[in-house]
Amino acid sequence: MSPVRSDITEAGVAILTIANPPVNALGAAVRGGLLEQLTQAQANPAVTAIVIAAEGKVFVAGADISEFGKPITPPSLPDVLTAIERSPKPVVAAINGMALGGGLELALACHARIVPPGAKLGLPEIKLGIIPGAGGTQRLPRLIGAAPAFAMMASGEPVTADKALANGLADEVVDSDLLAAASAHALRLAEAGAWRLSGTAEGKVDEADRAAFEIAAADAIKKAPRMPNVKALALSVRTGLDKGLTEGLATERAAFLNLVKDPTSKALRHLFFAEREAARVPGIGKEVKARPVGKAAVIGAGTMGGGIAMCFAQAGIPVTIIEVKEEALAAGLARIRANYETSVKRGSLSQAAMDRHLGFVTGAVGMEAAADADIIVEAAFEDMGVKAEIFGALDRIAKPGAILATNTSYLDVNAIADTTSRPQDVVGLHFFSPANVMRLLEIVRGAKTAPDVLVTSLDLARKIGKLPVVVGVCYGFVGNRILAKRSQAAERILLAGALPHEVDAAVTDFGFRMGPFAMLDLAGLDIGWRSRKVTGVKAPVGDGLCEQGYFGQKTGRGFYRYPDGARKGERDPDTEALITRLSEERGIVRRSFSNEEIIARLMYPMVNEGAKILEEGIAARSSDIDVVWVNGYNWPNFTGGPMHWAEGVGLSRIVEALETFAAETGDESLQPAPLLRRLAEGSGSFADKDAA
Ligand code: 3HC
Repeated sequence: MSPVRSDITEAGVAILTIANPPVNALGAAVRGGLLEQLTQAQANPAVTAIVIAAEGKVFVAGADISEFGKPITPPSLPDVLTAIERSPKPVVAAINGMALGGGLELALACHARIVPPGAKLGLPEIKLGIIPGAGGTQRLPRLIGAAPAFAMMASGEPVTADKALANGLADEVVDSDLLAAASAHALRLAEAGAWRLSGTAEGKVDEADRAAFEIAAADAIKKAPRMPNVKALALSVRTGLDKGLTEGLATERAAFLNLVKDPTSKALRHLFFAEREAARVPGIGKEVKARPVGKAAVIGAGTMGGGIAMCFAQAGIPVTIIEVKEEALAAGLARIRANYETSVKRGSLSQAAMDRHLGFVTGAVGMEAAADADIIVEAAFEDMGVKAEIFGALDRIAKPGAILATNTSYLDVNAIADTTSRPQDVVGLHFFSPANVMRLLEIVRGAKTAPDVLVTSLDLARKIGKLPVVVGVCYGFVGNRILAKRSQAAERILLAGALPHEVDAAVTDFGFRMGPFAMLDLAGLDIGWRSRKVTGVKAPVGDGLCEQGYFGQKTGRGFYRYPDGARKGERDPDTEALITRLSEERGIVRRSFSNEEIIARLMYPMVNEGAKILEEGIAARSSDIDVVWVNGYNWPNFTGGPMHWAEGVGLSRIVEALETFAAETGDESLQPAPLLRRLAEGSGSFADKDAA
């Protein structure tokens, strides 16, 4: 059955309705259906005007991204849109919800756009490493001006109905009977016998707008040197302005088709689907229903506990923060208020929203206050004894069926679960700091965690705006376990001859916002030092710095020095002397390292650990590891995450290098994981393994 149907109203309006759930993406069948129905409506003497509408909550979410990179089945989207624009009968878009990417381009090719108050209109292609490829870079500037259009396309952020009405993108905002309003609008256009084509040259572009566009384009290109699509976007808009619609469209389409093949776009599309895939837990189907969560409690009012409580409050879930002492509770509540006040001052939050959020937060001393919570998240000190005591108490206090979650970053969730008589209700919810800002949430599935506890956790994650990834129990789970490998490699390369600023420069050049040493200085070196004392792991440089009282930024000294409270570190001769001395003591002849070698030595062991994590079933897919590292550890998204990146590098090259690293250092943990070896030897890729 065609995903596009046509109904003709008594007044002579053909309503073409797209029904391609879940988001009405413009796949081949929709494009074909639209063109066919349009042609029929145009030929039908009973039809005076045409409305394009859609079923469901989303109007059209764009081109079908899963078709990218495959041969295009005609008709192409540009061809369908040209047929709409040139229609001898007016065509009006009835945009029932979101119109994104090709969805908005479809609406732009229509002769008017009618939207309800909640509609969102945007061209998010930039976020997928491409540019609008069906006329967006041409029709939008002509409709709303080049500078506003460029701003929308370069940010990828949608605009609201009000904004769209104000800038001319929407013709009417109607809050009831969208189809009737769109039909009436279409009939009025037909009666007038004239309608504006958004693709015609008459438009809003004047000299001032043109100048503003050029400034914005130069700025955007400068800010995103790694994104070839930003340059292509500016060029497409400019070509349309200088040489007219036909050349503009041709330039846009050629750039679009090229960018689709570019590794950057492939990486970003990989992450788009990976993020959605991560929410699926193999073996747990739709029949498993979530438990209701109406009330939450958080144990611990520290920075982490406060951040987690803010997540609940912002989602409108009443939350009680629990502390042992009144003073700690008051300090925690004051910190939450202060965080919101800062956002209000910055203008990113309204006073009303702050009041609303705070209205959902209460504080209490004593664990009894958790008795009526549906979910309790423990965010106390990272110590097994402390956790055991808390979970023992919660076991007595919490109501039957309540989910008992721990925010531990490293500890054994199974051991924590076994301190209770209800291990099936225990799960790890590993938030990242600051918890109210960072999107990633590792959901740690214990050996006995019940399926409906996992489903509830996934459901809750979405409600509080998090990106969940389900992981298994091991030291550090997926994210921190891989981080430990990078830290180890970073220490090792210092002793071998590199200096902190050289390592950090290689890593930021690779695309991270911060290098590992700047990061450690920011977080505080004492954290790792304390945990190494427990685990027995050695980090000679880190330990040496801590023994001197250099704990990073907070003490003004660390891998770098921070004179007068500076936030950006500068090279520290004392630290560098310490590093050199430690190398000498070990008889290491220091040598220099190229950026490429630094990246190989830091990142290949991470990929190797990722492969071990996959083999052990700690992560269900390699793409889950990518999602964790891109969203929790700032791995550059344009490379697709460590595992996707590794395939681009070549798995056999990585295996070979790891063998060398293992031989040089005598560290057997650097030997390639069996899975990595198998794949490198030609038995497929991480992506194939995921698909299987
Ligand atoms: N193509 C193919 N599949 C898509 C899709 C698209 N454009 N948009 C969403 N989907 C799929 C998702 O993969 C998901 O599939 P799954 O259920 O199998 O995992 C399903 O639709 C539902 O999507 P979400 O889970 O994301 O649903 P939400 O309700 O959370 O979000 C949305 C809806 C805001 C529309 C979000 O899906 C979204 O942002 N989609 C992408 C929008 C986009 O980038 N459009 C531009 C595409 S490129 C383009 O149009 C090129 C053109 O210029 C030629």
